[in-house]
Amino acid sequence: MTETKPAVLVTRRMPSAVLDQLAASCLVDLHPGTDDLAHEEVCARLRGKQGLVCMFNDRIDAAAIAAGDSLRVIATVAVGFDNIDVGAAAARGIVVTNTPDILTGATAELTWALILSVTRRIGEADRAVRRGGWTGWTFDFMLGSELQGKQLGIVGAGRIGRAVAAVAPAFGMQVVFAAKPGADRDSASDETVVSLDELLLTSDVVSLHLPLTETTRHVINRRTLARMKRSACLINTSRGPVVDEAALSWALEERLIAGAGLDVFEEEPRVHPGLLQRENVCLTPHIGSATRETRAAMAALAVRNVVEVLGGRPAVTPVHR
Ligand code: GLV
Repeated sequence: MTETKPAVLVTRRMPSAVLDQLAASCLVDLHPGTDDLAHEEVCARLRGKQGLVCMFNDRIDAAAIAAGDSLRVIATVAVGFDNIDVGAAAARGIVVTNTPDILTGATAELTWALILSVTRRIGEADRAVRRGGWTGWTFDFMLGSELQGKQLGIVGAGRIGRAVAAVAPAFGMQVVFAAKPGADRDSASDETVVSLDELLLTSDVVSLHLPLTETTRHVINRRTLARMKRSACLINTSRGPVVDEAALSWALEERLIAGAGLDVFEEEPRVHPGLLQRENVCLTPHIGSATRETRAAMAALAVRNVVEVLGGRPAVTPVHR
């Protein structure tokens, strides 16, 4: 009797070596494009599939999970899993996995790139040179602000927040964390954990490293932005909806804060028009984990999770709610 391989939907092109690994034990239904699959198409193609490899921007809601009548594993190629209805999956006994740890370094590096870009006005300076706006060296052209002796406020003391904090001493910065009660405080000693309000009032750079949940949605809003120092900047490499973009645009317009570095947005790929026009905002297109090394490792881990679960073994990195 021939054994039928389990079928797996893969919603985006991935490195061929990784797809070959999956194909060794599964039938692969690959969406070969770089574009998003429409939600209805994800639902239609999930029918009869045992596995799903998806991305952070595929909406795997209760309807998609119901459509996946044979699903046993959902593996997202991301650390954040706010796009997946984990409760609906758990109710059906479907294992959900993500790709933690391996993208920590890349995301922390991008966070520092944004911090430096905003405080030293790199984007603005680059644009000035390109449009011929640099007519000769002058003493006070493009003055930025220095990191030495300043305070970095990390909102969320998880893996990425701690990796960002670890670099701060090299720039001569002090670090404080605002961790939610019960959140991971492993390396944040008691002296460095402060309330969110205190962090906002005292930090020169505020960097967000929170998962998106109902409690973290719009944690940065008009009220919290108004607490920040006028000379401070806000960095977000976590999830767009953690920041109320309209409120941020207002705070920049009113000069309540000095600048922002954003890799994530409320309605990607749309960016609030009030942010697009500002020189003191550095915008990157959700590239926190976008290095060749990290993306390949993320894809490999997601596939490993699928192969393990469909092979009757425990997932390598199941999500914890
Ligand atoms: C990307 O945004 C991720 O969560 O890995």
